[in-house]
Amino acid sequence: MMYIIDSANLEKIRECVEFYPVAGVTTNPTIISREKTDFISLIKSIREIIGPDRMLHIQTTALEAGQIIKEAVALKEIVGGDFYIKIPVGPEGLKATMALKKMGIKVTETAIFTQQQAMLAAIAGADFVAPYVNRLDNIVSDGVHVVGEIVEMFKQHNISSKVLAASFKTVEQVHKIAMVGGHAVTINTELFHTLTYHPLTQYAIDDFIVDWESCYGKTDILGLIDQSK
Ligand code: G3P
Repeated sequence: MMYIIDSANLEKIRECVEFYPVAGVTTNPTIISREKTDFISLIKSIREIIGPDRMLHIQTTALEAGQIIKEAVALKEIVGGDFYIKIPVGPEGLKATMALKKMGIKVTETAIFTQQQAMLAAIAGADFVAPYVNRLDNIVSDGVHVVGEIVEMFKQHNISSKVLAASFKTVEQVHKIAMVGGHAVTINTELFHTLTYHPLTQYAIDDFIVDWESCYGKTDILGLIDQSK
């Protein structure tokens, strides 16, 4: 499963890329607007931090297919590398997706809430479909169940589009997406830290240090190697 950063904050992206096995970055107009800075230099800086080989998904703000296509072409030119245009699902989005696929531009169809939205997006040619897990849970639906059915449906119909689950608040949601075969999750940087932290892990590490120091004092392994030369 791929882990993707759902953020446009340069400092947080830099930190996540340094410490975690990150496959790319996703943004949307809400995430971009939080940074309150120049859009073009922001997306160029994200590309600079993550390099050309990690995915960068940037969302269109256009509502009509012709404009979506123009934005996709221009954004791809500006950021380069492994670029995906994110398009909210709907008639105009699907029309744009079909055209962009013919032009060789990769598409992530986003804001997906139902299995059939995902199916149509995939058949239109979307490389990724992005169902919103936590927002489904918030309307007393079941985000994990919807993602699981999309994964299963793609398998049954031999569809190569991947499921990039989005909108997460908890470790449990992320884990359950892994268990139903989601191909990728996009999560905020705080959730990356929460996923890796456990107090018993920290307890074990503290214990190892105490036991080591009771025998070797403050000298670490490299120190002992030096002494042995
Ligand atoms: O990538 C979509 C995601 O950012 C939506 O998340 O937390 O606003 O539901 P959220």
